Amino acid sequence: MERDMIVRPRRLRTTAALRKMVRETRMDKSSLVYPMFVMDGENIKEEIPTMPGQYRYSVDRMPEILNEMADAGVGSVMLFGIPAKKDEYGSQAYACDGIVQRAFAKAKKEVPDLYYIGDVCMCEYTSHGHCGILKGEYVDNDLTLDKLAEIAVTQVQAGADMVAPSDMMDGHIQAIREALDHNGLFTTPIMSYAVKYASAFYGPFRDAAGSAPAFGDRKSYQMDYHNRREGMKEALLDIEEGADIIMVKPAMSYLDMVREIKDATDVPMAAYSVSGEYAMVKAGAKLGYIDETAVLCEMAACAYRAGVDIYMSYFAKELAYYMDEGRIG
Ligand code: PBG
Repeated sequence: MERDMIVRPRRLRTTAALRKMVRETRMDKSSLVYPMFVMDGENIKEEIPTMPGQYRYSVDRMPEILNEMADAGVGSVMLFGIPAKKDEYGSQAYACDGIVQRAFAKAKKEVPDLYYIGDVCMCEYTSHGHCGILKGEYVDNDLTLDKLAEIAVTQVQAGADMVAPSDMMDGHIQAIREALDHNGLFTTPIMSYAVKYASAFYGPFRDAAGSAPAFGDRKSYQMDYHNRREGMKEALLDIEEGADIIMVKPAMSYLDMVREIKDATDVPMAAYSVSGEYAMVKAGAKLGYIDETAVLCEMAACAYRAGVDIYMSYFAKELAYYMDEGRIG
């Protein structure tokens, strides 16, 4: 016997076609960014043990994966460089012929259809693994700013279309904007990792890049994950300094920050689904505990639902494929 009920939310969930028609979140492949690692050497494609399915490439082998991304319709690639030699000042980060600069030059020439983003930081390049120049055991903010500016300028001069500072130094966006403009690079956008937390989810990335800090941790520059208002403060400050896009990182456990900043600002929002998120999905799937495809699709769609315009993920190629298939999007 049917009850007397006018509003029945299940009505709009009756068939797949209808569910798709009323879907609130729509995604597009052009908003996907694939982060990847390039290293010194030749003819190298080596798997990262804690990130199965992800590889470090030498510059000569890198076009293989770039072409795969372009063919899949992924919009953009972010490059991380792993130099043969690291030193106290991270000098290979801002060398004109550094690993990532050479990678940008090659990538732009061989696979020009992709949009290239440079991660601006020092931790992959310093012998101590910290994200800036040390004074004693403290990362010196203002000394580091000059180096970050040099990293950004050399990356763009080599071919990067956009720079993304992930160092969490104060005043970094202004320093980088001024340096870019001073070099005539007015049209290069800055995507700030403004809302970046000190997170254990970066573990596999640090294995991949050999960038775990040799002592201490990153808590004197990356944010405490208990904090919300501080994230908003960082976002607003970076926008004031000239950030064109704001990123929240990690993604999965931090989507409250995406929504909150999206509502409070008028810049595009990015979120980075980091190495630990990828590794958990891979490990869980390998053990047969979760369905890899279903979970990676859900993680991405929920980030877009939270307000993300740009999604950075090691699953970018898979996501592009599932968007084509109509499984998500
Ligand atoms: C550089 C940087 C890191 C990541 C992106 N840029 C490492 C860190 O801050 O320790 C992590 C990305 C990932 O875990 O996938 N500072």
